[in-house]
Amino acid sequence: MDSFLIRGGTRLKGKIEISGSKNSALPIVAACLLAEGKTTLNGVPRLSDVDSMTKLIGELGCHVYRHEPAGRPGNDLPPLNGPLDIEVTDEKLCEARYDIVKTMRASICVLGPLLAKRGRAIVSIPGGCAIGDRPVDLHVRGLQKLGAEFRTENGNIIGEVHGRLKGCRMYLGGAQGPTVLGTINVMCAAALAEGETVLVGAACEPEVVDCAELLIKMGAQIKGHGTPEIRIEGVDKLHGAEHRIIPDRIECGTFIIAAAITNGELELKNCNLDHLIAVADRLDEVGVKIERQNGTAFVSSSRRLNNVEMTTQPFPGFPTDLQAQLMALLCLGDGISVITERIFPDRFLHVGELNRMGARVRKEGPTAIIQGVKELQGASVMASDLRASAALVLAGLVARGTTKIDRVYHIDRGYEKIEQKLMAVGADIERIKEKG
Ligand code: EPZ
Repeated sequence: MDSFLIRGGTRLKGKIEISGSKNSALPIVAACLLAEGKTTLNGVPRLSDVDSMTKLIGELGCHVYRHEPAGRPGNDLPPLNGPLDIEVTDEKLCEARYDIVKTMRASICVLGPLLAKRGRAIVSIPGGCAIGDRPVDLHVRGLQKLGAEFRTENGNIIGEVHGRLKGCRMYLGGAQGPTVLGTINVMCAAALAEGETVLVGAACEPEVVDCAELLIKMGAQIKGHGTPEIRIEGVDKLHGAEHRIIPDRIECGTFIIAAAITNGELELKNCNLDHLIAVADRLDEVGVKIERQNGTAFVSSSRRLNNVEMTTQPFPGFPTDLQAQLMALLCLGDGISVITERIFPDRFLHVGELNRMGARVRKEGPTAIIQGVKELQGASVMASDLRASAALVLAGLVARGTTKIDRVYHIDRGYEKIEQKLMAVGADIERIKEKG
């Protein structure tokens, strides 16, 4: 288990290129199970979660090949990741084993594609994780409405389809609102179902739209993606296609906050600020300046950070995946800020660690009350989940002294080359490799 050593206090200045979206790439790689022929994906980030997903579809009979990175002569940015080719070569196997599912919950994304294409799926039930219980009942219910039959056995969900899935009109929302991966799972299955499926209460996140765009390139008939009502007219077959993954809005938001917390100036390339509209709104209130020019964002901030209130919400609201990072920033705000977590009400493991660094955050149910302090101090802290870890990196960048963050494998799941990107803009961050 590697750790990061961060000596805080440098202002970040320079250019960072945002990678392709992890949360788009994972279900999209799973969606390739639906197609006949080769699919080529551009912009797939190199992350341990992506490795887990490609390993999983490899076990499910896909040939996966990553091309060499492409150099960019005359450009000061590092080489682009090579495209990822995926082609199904064997459709016999239908099982997503616990060994893989336990490392990555997004493995559930193979459920819909396997049922629609192969008529059978065995997927180990993902357990709880650091950010909450995270059930998959809505995925199962949606697929049941399309005609799949389910039972659970020895910790596995076993799904079967007799004949072909049949389209229908269904409500897909749950107690906490829409489900992102659930919407994608059911949409993928409906793409090959007989007749029309209407998903009411669908998630509107850009990652759902990205997956729908790929399916359309494969020959699917989908309308309304990006709205709460998605209409899918099932087709008999899908074919291979070429697609570029959207920029990672959460990575982009994290680096915007990195510029703000260090009072720095960053130029972020390959970003889509339309995907961060609520984030830009809250940060504007805090006093962070974000200017856009085509796909580039220029970020700077005044020394004084105002306090704000923020509630996480489904898209286009403020994403839960940037809650922890915003909290790190607000720890240095003027006065009292309030954050309420409506998507994963228990997603607050970063609170204790930020407090170890001198922050003053109090949690009351799904709400955190943050009393701004003048400075944070370096400390030894523990990464608990991906975004909580990112918040600790941000806090470490500005803290007085040295911060040691253990268990950075959580960060490696979702931030491509984070330390190289930060070092290139002046951060003093070092990866300490685990011995042996
Ligand atoms: C996706 O998870 C993301 N993961 C998460 O990103 C993100 O936090 C989340 O969406 C919300 O935006 C990937 O894309 C790989 P949900 P997902 O189903 O789809 C409840 C990160 O840090 N729910 O939209 O699994 C659920 O408990 C990660 O990159 C049910 O009740 O989340 C939550 O309260 C972590 N039953 C709400 O819905 C279900 O069957 C939304 O969750 C499914 C979900």
